[in-house]
Amino acid sequence: MITKKTINNTIDNKQFLKDFKNDVLKGLSNSNKSLPCKYIYDEEGSKLFKKITKLPEYYVTRSEFQIFSESGDFFGNLLKNLTCNIVEFGVGDGQKTRILLKHLTQNKIVFRYYPIDISSSAIDDLINSLKRDFKNLDSNGLVADYSCDLTCLRNMKTGTNLVLFLGSNIGNMNFNQSISFLRRIRESLNLGDYLLIGFDLKKDATTLQNAYNDSQGISEKFNKNLLNRINKELGGNFDLNLFSYLSIYDTKEGAIVSKLISKKQQIIKISSLNKVFSFAKGEAIHTESSYKYNQNDIKYLAKESGFSIIENLFDKQHFFTNSIWQLK
Ligand code: AVJ
Repeated sequence: MITKKTINNTIDNKQFLKDFKNDVLKGLSNSNKSLPCKYIYDEEGSKLFKKITKLPEYYVTRSEFQIFSESGDFFGNLLKNLTCNIVEFGVGDGQKTRILLKHLTQNKIVFRYYPIDISSSAIDDLINSLKRDFKNLDSNGLVADYSCDLTCLRNMKTGTNLVLFLGSNIGNMNFNQSISFLRRIRESLNLGDYLLIGFDLKKDATTLQNAYNDSQGISEKFNKNLLNRINKELGGNFDLNLFSYLSIYDTKEGAIVSKLISKKQQIIKISSLNKVFSFAKGEAIHTESSYKYNQNDIKYLAKESGFSIIENLFDKQHFFTNSIWQLK
């Protein structure tokens, strides 16, 4: 059976709007203006991201897809004879996961699948497509962000938990944020459980920057969806044409840093906040950081959060890695 569900701490619409307002107020009041990238993902934002995953410049999704396509035996052996609860954070359209699920089904591994996404429409679409393709799948879709309550995992006494955090979604957090998130996951798992994380690897800056500056301008639209959403849901009056998109690799941070930059001195009104915000010419709103990793970074994160690395799987070009960790 495949269902959509809400759990404790799941976002309900009222709470969501409250959080959105608070975060926008806080982010735009700061002297270094910023907006949390999680608000990019409404229905429109999720669609734009899906388009990004198909762009020639955006190698990230394709690389991970290749890794999963070629690792059926690995996962078959890893999970042999187990009954699994598979929990996935930020599933989006689930393209890569369905390859994994196919491998597991072919290897006769028994599992339940709990996909989580901040976008309700993404979960709806996913559930519909899972119903079409996996006839006997047992699955609950959850609408929630990464702060959701995971203690339920501990209580699933039957089975091995496998938590998926794919697509370099972890890259939107800095190292400290990642470590506290990973520790929270560890605390909600049992000994022997697994965590599978996708990391985009450090590589030459041109390849990295091109992935976030595509020739069709989709990445720009994707970031600007933040402003669109403030206009639609909070009564803002951002003119998207009066902001330019800048996305560059910061070698010191080890991250692609994306910003929207005001083309002129302007005042923006957000009616549901009853506030105006002034932008100087050239002033930036930080919209997203996408961290990139090397082997030492990954070892450090695993160690700090209390996991043992079992295996790192790579694509042919070594652009991306899926790192399998275990709670020992
Ligand atoms: C979904 C967070 C993995 O950082 O590469 C793509 C989002 N932003 N292009 C990333 C994104 C701009 C993406 N993640």
